[in-house]
Amino acid sequence: MFFDFLPGVGHVGAHRGARTLAPENTMLAAELAVKMGANFWELDVNKVADGTLMVFHDDVLSRTTDVASNAGFTGIAPWATHEYSCKELQQLDAGSWFIEEDPYGTIASGEVSSATLDKMVGLQIPTLREALEFSRRHDLPVNVEIKDQLQSPGDLSIVDDVLKMAHETETEDLILLSSFNHDYLTRMHYLAPNMPLAVLAEKKHPDDIPGYLKLLGATGYHPAKDIIDPELVRDLASRGIKVNPYTVNDMDQAVSLINAGCFGIITDFVHKLRHRL
Ligand code: G3P
Ligand code: CA
Repeated sequence: MFFDFLPGVGHVGAHRGARTLAPENTMLAAELAVKMGANFWELDVNKVADGTLMVFHDDVLSRTTDVASNAGFTGIAPWATHEYSCKELQQLDAGSWFIEEDPYGTIASGEVSSATLDKMVGLQIPTLREALEFSRRHDLPVNVEIKDQLQSPGDLSIVDDVLKMAHETETEDLILLSSFNHDYLTRMHYLAPNMPLAVLAEKKHPDDIPGYLKLLGATGYHPAKDIIDPELVRDLASRGIKVNPYTVNDMDQAVSLINAGCFGIITDFVHKLRHRL
């Protein structure tokens, strides 16, 4: 399983792939994650209109695609992601925005090669199937985050769909499943008790972290960088909990959390963290 691929502590997790060097949640970002020495990558899953599981973070399309200027694409702003089919979504260019915006200044600084830049134009939004097949080919463990499907509250079927895809791509052993929607974790634990699970916490911790994780059948804890500190990491790690804070982009913080016993760090800057370790 996921944790067996990664012995010890201090693993580098590529948040949405190597998203400071390539457009997030694309296969190019996954390739760069491997190239830069990530130990695992993180991706976001949403279910779209025809039931396909797509690797995409936002519930609207405008930030990371050319939807606003794509003449072949119909629809009304803000273009809700779940209202389109896979075929429609794959007409969009999910890469050129990165060249236009240089969101992390990595193009200007020369950290992105010209060969990589050429590959960005016309990148498609990947399906989860493509992403998992990539992980299998590279034996690259993957943290699959199921985004909360706000258009269908209470519907847990995306969990069943993710598990089916893991089975079809033979990647059950590579996946760590996480979500802010803890009902999804409960469903996965019911369906697949051996699938490693991680609880995402953004603003506050559960009252009793170890007790809460045990209740859900989770072994991983993914707190936001602003609510975690080395002392808490030490305590949780001593209880066998795999702590993977996100999204840690300050390398001094990353190193101090690793020294305290973090299993991994989910960062946008894989290449910088790799150089610090
Ligand atoms: O899984 C950690 C992190 O990715 C959660 O936040 O919004 O970046 O998906 P977000
Ligand atoms: Ca995520």
